[in-house]
Amino acid sequence: MANEKQFKLKTKFVATRNVKEYRATIPVWVTEEDVILEIGCEWGTTTVLLAERCKEVIGTDVSLECIERAKKRHPGIRFEVLDAFDVRAALDFGEQFTKIYIDISGFSGYRSLLDVIALLTMYGTVLRPEAIVIKSGALKHFASHCIPWRSGGD
Ligand SMILES: C[S@@+](CC[C@H](N)C(=O)[O-])C[C@H]1O[C@@H](n2cnc3c(N)ncnc32)[C@H](O)[C@@H]1O
Repeated sequence: MANEKQFKLKTKFVATRNVKEYRATIPVWVTEEDVILEIGCEWGTTTVLLAERCKEVIGTDVSLECIERAKKRHPGIRFEVLDAFDVRAALDFGEQFTKIYIDISGFSGYRSLLDVIALLTMYGTVLRPEAIVIKSGALKHFASHCIPWRSGGD
């Protein structure tokens, strides 16, 4: 039965519909104290924008080709190969990430919603960042239809 010792996720999830919105969150959500894990960095275009505003960022992608290209383009930034679904490997970076940015292909359609929620819950539970910003139109659409009910005492 639920009680006050039950684990409660504290991470905030920020859902964006496209890359323009995804990048527009940076001045609002990123501070100079942040240590950021970016998942799905491709060639590092968003990584550069994050690096300008935070203490540290690691750009990651499942594609070795993308990571090699990102490293060549932006030699001052750390890039690593990572499969988003391998949260153990993300933990092995040994960093206390305060924010996570996620933009991986295949997360746009409505059928991807359960995978998106599973991924967010996994990173929220294991790495416990303050916020995860994700590019997922499906999640934004779903969230826009949710109303957290508040009774008088809440
Ligand atoms: C739309 S691109 C990312 C663009 C990038 N965020 C930007 O702002 O320029 C999507 C990226 O997700 C990567 N990707 C796909 N599946 C992945 C996975 N399971 N783990 C990590 N990256 C993945 C792809 O290799 C691709 O580079």
